[in-house]
Amino acid sequence: MLGSPLLLWLLAGTLSMAAETGPLDIQDPEEDSEATPLLPVPCDYDRCRHLQVPCEELQQAGPVACLCPGLSSLAQPPTPPRLGEVRVMAEDGHATVHWCAPASPVHHYQLLLWEGTGAPYRGPLLNTTMRRAELGGLRPGSTYVLCVVAINEAGESPAPGLGAEDPDTAAFPTFGPCGRFSVPPRPGTLVHTAIGVGTALVLLGCAALVWRFHLHRRWGCPRCHEATA
Ligand SMILES: *[C@@H]1O[C@H](CO)[C@@H](O)[C@H](O)[C@H]1NC(C)=O
Repeated sequence: MLGSPLLLWLLAGTLSMAAETGPLDIQDPEEDSEATPLLPVPCDYDRCRHLQVPCEELQQAGPVACLCPGLSSLAQPPTPPRLGEVRVMAEDGHATVHWCAPASPVHHYQLLLWEGTGAPYRGPLLNTTMRRAELGGLRPGSTYVLCVVAINEAGESPAPGLGAEDPDTAAFPTFGPCGRFSVPPRPGTLVHTAIGVGTALVLLGCAALVWRFHLHRRWGCPRCHEATA
C-alpha cells in the first residue's frame, strides 16, 4: 500500500529524529495527514449535569464547532424532562431534586409539587442551566407528587401527573417528568412521643402513690402508726 516515496520520507524522518525520540514517531506522518481536516467531536455536554452551559454556547466557545445533540423545534413546547433522584432529608423537611434536560430548547424549568388531591404548588422559574433544586417545608409522614416542567416560548412540557385522578395510587413511568416520594416521620417525633408517654406513666404512678398515702393518713393505718411511733 505505502508507496516507496512515503517509505523513504518516513525513513528520513525517523533517522533525523531517532537520536532524541523513540520509534513511536513513525506514526506521526499518518496522524498529521488524518488530523488536518479536524473532525468534529461531541461537545462536553451532559443533560443531567447541574449548571450545564447550553450546548450552543459550548459550540461557539471552542476553536472547532463540536457536535450537539439534536433538539426539537423552537416553535414547539419542549418534550418533558426526566425526573431523577429525589433525596429526602426528613429531619428538616427538605428534599433535593435532580432532573435531566429533554432534547428540546428550554428557557426555564419549574417544579410542581402537590400532596394528595390538593392544588399543585408551582415553584419559581429556574434558568436553563439548572438540573437540581431544593424543596423545603415538607411535612414528615406525607406523600407528595412532583413533576418537572420545561418551558420555552412555545409553551411548556406536559406533566401527566397533573391529570391523574388519584395521585396517591397513580403509576408514573420511570423515565417520565413526574414521581412520587414520601417524607418519613421525623425520628425526633417518635422519641418525643415515647418521652411523653413515659412521663405520663410516671406522673400517674406518683399520683396513685400520693393518693394512697393520703388515704392512709386520713383513715388511719394501725400498722403504719406502730411503725412510725
Ligand atoms: C442560573 O441560576 C443559578 C442559580 O440561581 C445561578 O447560579 C446561575 O449563575 C444562573 N445561570 C445563568 C446563566 O443565569
